[in-house]
Amino acid sequence: MSGIIVIGSQWGDEGKGKAVDVFSAEADYVIRYQGGANAGHTLNIGNQKKILHLIPSGIFHSNTTCIISAGVVLDIETLVSEIQAIKQSGDYLNKPSKLLISDSATVLLSYHRVLDQAREKAVNGVKIGTTGKGIGPAYEDRASRKALLFGDLFTDKETLKNKLEKSLSEKNFLIEKFYKQTPVSLENILNKVLSLREELKFYRCHDTSSVIYKALKENKKVLFEGAQGSLLDLLHGTYPYVTSSSTLSGSALVGSGIGPGFIKKVIAITKAYTTRVGGGPFLTECTGEEGELLQKTGEEWGATTGRMRRCGWLDLPALKYSARINGITHLALMKLDVLSYLKEIPVCVAYTLKGKTIYDYPVYSSELSEFKPVYTVLPGWQEEISSMKKFEELPKKAQDYIRLIQKELDIPVEVVSVGPTREATIWRRNLF
Ligand code: GDP
Ligand code: IMO
Ligand code: MG
Repeated sequence: MSGIIVIGSQWGDEGKGKAVDVFSAEADYVIRYQGGANAGHTLNIGNQKKILHLIPSGIFHSNTTCIISAGVVLDIETLVSEIQAIKQSGDYLNKPSKLLISDSATVLLSYHRVLDQAREKAVNGVKIGTTGKGIGPAYEDRASRKALLFGDLFTDKETLKNKLEKSLSEKNFLIEKFYKQTPVSLENILNKVLSLREELKFYRCHDTSSVIYKALKENKKVLFEGAQGSLLDLLHGTYPYVTSSSTLSGSALVGSGIGPGFIKKVIAITKAYTTRVGGGPFLTECTGEEGELLQKTGEEWGATTGRMRRCGWLDLPALKYSARINGITHLALMKLDVLSYLKEIPVCVAYTLKGKTIYDYPVYSSELSEFKPVYTVLPGWQEEISSMKKFEELPKKAQDYIRLIQKELDIPVEVVSVGPTREATIWRRNLF
């Protein structure tokens, strides 16, 4: 068993990019298996900051093969820009075999984005606060069997045009007649696709599931890189304020086309506090000055949209829920350094509703927003920790914070991140 699934355990932006980059030093394969360019994964390589939306966060290591598997909705314009930026920044994509893209991945085009944004702007619609990247409409196409797949891009021009036309005609009807916006031109899309496929043809892989299967059979080290966070899961998140894919560990199997027997660990990337972008319930949210200070100290604005992230305290019942639905075996606790300025750190351990104490995260409750958090308050350590290399070096109060999380969740914290760089990482045991 040499597969490790890495997921976000909260509402996204937990630090998956940094964690996967650090973990990739030991990996042979890194796989993105769901979501699309709604993801923004930030890596700090030397003094350079890199933001990846679609390419797996293992790309900056010479030892890894990166795979985009069938479960991803692939914005091919963003992908080509990302490929070009990586090529320009160094020798990282020096051979096409470094990046394999599944023929079965769903292609996302401009009309998906137009539709997503039109819906968000519509006066009577529910405002989810999506990233506007076309994720919902692209997954709808897949489910209704109208999607263009990555492999379809490489058919002859006439067949491609017909497929595009089929997919586009319904969208244009909605865009024009329902949302009163300018329809998308088939000719423009076709020309765009024809030019983009010239760059993308080198990375085409007929069956990435078979590549991953063989790697796992040979005991190669395989990382599955989740996008978004567990509470944004389409079925088990805070619906309707969720994304359109499954963000749970099980999605790594389905999205990549492999069975569960190869999985050794499920590592939850967990921020030491909580953030959320877009609409939806957030029980431990801090508003006012307290929230602004956390936002400023944590530099909490989006890597994809630049929006400010809502900030609040760690929510242990929400994390317990996440642990249950993912089968989390280990935690990587991120951004612990951000809390160093605090004299006292509240941690939510339960909620109250109409005078009753509740210990489970009420994900399906229609009264969710009425639940009030119950906090236990821990003393802060008020000491700079970013250069610390060992758990034992951390101030005792920071260790206690970590121990509380471990105890409440009954899951070991394997990695502690104390800064955005690769070096600011404390390991407590080996990864694979
Ligand atoms: P992702 O979507 O889960 O990959 O997370 P993002 O990249 O969107 O957001 C995480 C942000 O926190 C990025 O700006 C990272 O560079 C930064 N970051 C990651 N780990 C740490 C850490 O331990 N400390 C601090 N201060 N920043 C971190
Ligand atoms: P990473 O991988 C944080 C949120 C959006 C919105 C909801 C639906 O960087 O952690 P969508 O565009 O997916 O239809 O938006 O999901 N969202 C994210 N929030 N991090 C992300 O990705 C997100 N991807 C989507 O803000 O609330
Ligand atoms: Mg992000």
